Amino acid sequence: MKPVEWLGNKLKIIDQTQLPGKVVFVELRDHTEVVAAIKELKVRGAPAIGVAAAYGIALGAQDIKAQNKAEFLSQLDKILQTFAAARPTAVNLFRAIDRMKKAATAADFTTIKQSLIDEAKLIHAEEEAATERLSRLGARLIKDGFTVLTHCNTGPLATAGYGTALGVIKAAKEQGKKIEAIVTETRPLLQGARLTAWELMQENIPTTLITDSMAGYFLSRGKVNCVIVGADRIAANGDTANKIGTYTLAVLAKENGIPFYVAAPTSTIDLSVSSGEQIPIEERNPEEVTSIGGIRLAPKGVTAANPAFDITPHQYITAIITEKGIVRKPYMSSLKKSLSVEPI
Ligand code: MRU
Repeated sequence: MKPVEWLGNKLKIIDQTQLPGKVVFVELRDHTEVVAAIKELKVRGAPAIGVAAAYGIALGAQDIKAQNKAEFLSQLDKILQTFAAARPTAVNLFRAIDRMKKAATAADFTTIKQSLIDEAKLIHAEEEAATERLSRLGARLIKDGFTVLTHCNTGPLATAGYGTALGVIKAAKEQGKKIEAIVTETRPLLQGARLTAWELMQENIPTTLITDSMAGYFLSRGKVNCVIVGADRIAANGDTANKIGTYTLAVLAKENGIPFYVAAPTSTIDLSVSSGEQIPIEERNPEEVTSIGGIRLAPKGVTAANPAFDITPHQYITAIITEKGIVRKPYMSSLKKSLSVEPI
């Protein structure tokens, strides 16, 4: 089952908002439908957002009707801008936009249109390869018999590939290790309860779902060997933006002497921001907090806040697992030295 699939003239995705109740595939026929799918979290997770956006831009370019190259590029630029406004935190989106812009160099439109499709396919193939490799590298950190706590959703759905944090758990199991997972539900949109629990059950990995507020209990009772999460953007100093609640888990892990790992492809590292303070945090509709699954729980008129991500300062992160190697402190120099590769 492919969460994101290019069909030549349209993009097919699983509508993640309907999981796990219904497995619904939707076909997106123009770039505006892809932008809407990203905004509405039908397709979500940093690498998957980048892949979907790349295909969406390629799709948008096919529909451009221009008299000359300058006009073509100006229309392409408008399409790029609509994607850039879709979600602010995951840097994979901006990396994909940048790559697609740079791929539009040929003299004639027909060639540009084809090179944009080729570039999108390349971005997808690279994310598939990177997430598989980082998962196999990261699996070395997981010992036989480990119970791993993870947050949000970081499997094939979130990556259009093998997975990041969830990929590491899968790869450890594939290596023959006995692994159990503890999954936080990840309020407000329940990516953990809905998507991670579903993906882990498909992999036959014993899984226990907990509410976000139970994490301290489990981390303090010796029930967790390590915490692994994904990332939406990693700053040059190692500060990491990830789903809201990640920072809390990192502090709790440190307090209880439990390793805290971040797993992400290098496409999620943004060396242009020196620290987490510069990473934009998406503020989403407060109704996602006052309601669950469309059912209002909080009193009408109450003020609610809904930051979708938080920043985990680098000092709480034991290691960053990438496809180019496992990086440890000091992150500023390790990440800049373009990551020393550890052979498999
Ligand atoms: O708002 P979402 O569901 O797109 O947030 C996703 C996350 O925070 C993931 O942990 C992150 O993108 C890593 S995905 C491999």
